[in-house]
Amino acid sequence: MGQTLVDDGRHGLLMMKTVSSYRHRARNCLMETTFFAKISQFQQIDEILPTRPYNGVQGFLPDPAVSAVAISVLTMRPERKTMEQRPIEMPDETTVAPPSRQPVLRRINEAQRALEYLLFNVDREADAQARFLDVAGKLIAAVEDGPDIALAAILHNQDEGSYAVRHCIDTAVVAMLVARALDKLPHQILAIVAGALTMNIGMLHKHEQLQGRLNAISNDELAAIHAHPQEGVDILRRAGITDEEWLDCVLLHHENEDGSGYPFGRSGDDIPLNVKIIALADRYCARVSSRSYRRSLLPIEALRDILLADHQIVDPMLTACFIRVAGMYPTGAVVRLASGEIGVVAGKGSDSTAPAVQVLVGVDGVLLAAPLRRDTGVAGFGVREMLSGEQAGVRFRMWQVWGEDARA
Ligand SMILES: [Fe+2]
Repeated sequence: MGQTLVDDGRHGLLMMKTVSSYRHRARNCLMETTFFAKISQFQQIDEILPTRPYNGVQGFLPDPAVSAVAISVLTMRPERKTMEQRPIEMPDETTVAPPSRQPVLRRINEAQRALEYLLFNVDREADAQARFLDVAGKLIAAVEDGPDIALAAILHNQDEGSYAVRHCIDTAVVAMLVARALDKLPHQILAIVAGALTMNIGMLHKHEQLQGRLNAISNDELAAIHAHPQEGVDILRRAGITDEEWLDCVLLHHENEDGSGYPFGRSGDDIPLNVKIIALADRYCARVSSRSYRRSLLPIEALRDILLADHQIVDPMLTACFIRVAGMYPTGAVVRLASGEIGVVAGKGSDSTAPAVQVLVGVDGVLLAAPLRRDTGVAGFGVREMLSGEQAGVRFRMWQVWGEDARA
């Protein structure tokens, strides 16, 4: 059924490549999804793959012949190039950003500060809807200009602002990228981003307190958590928000695919796709963010968690779409290459398992004076493992990898 197994030959993992069709607004597109698992987990992964019609759309290519061709293309090994890797020059202090606009990272941080003010002062705003939409629009424009920087900022911009507000920005970035990949219309993307930015307005102070908690939450706190979607909608309606698509995102962002969520216990197709996109983004971003009581998960651990632990409650087609958008090694992930070098995933490479990596630490463990760009599809430079910042023992500023657009 549109699936095949290949040994990827680099990670000691079995790769399962799946080809599915995804029809959106009468448009068919092939979607390559790479699911990964250790051999012992394969059976479990196999069980969670979507095999049912999705929102009334058949999940897998109906034509076996077309599937076979598509699979053979998608599972084909990238050609192993033997050309020598050339160093590239690290941007220096004198390079200037394009004069027409501010750097992408700075604009994301400005959106975060504006959002923080709005969320905590919403009852004083004469036109809160316009102000929130203005922030959402500016964030969308920044992400359009620098999707790699926006994704990397989720991992490497964690000291910016309060956790509760930064989490909403991170969630909005991931939700926007997934929505865009699903060909959502601009007004729908705006509603999704606005929904993600305001999803926790009903428990902002509580969210900040709970993220630092080691002990179990009380019954009162649990009740407040369960009430925050409705509380958020009430706050937004009082502030003049009338967009029902946006309000639905806030009201339903904790509903689960299997009906185990809150506040209504809706399931499956009774949850709008826009809301499911936010729910997935919320889960991913929470996992890769560090909390005071635990370290952040590596992106690959977060994806594995969502595929395995959350497979009942997150729509697997959306997880697949996110992997398609972000790759198996999302931008910003710190990796060790087969060469022994350590670097940061700078963006997409020759395929979803072979990202472009900016090497920061050479084979001798010494920090390089200027980063080297590696195509990890080249023999000898494949990704061997993903590392945490502490494991890698390297600190860097985002502009050193992504240039002037990544200056805060
Ligand atoms: Fe929430």
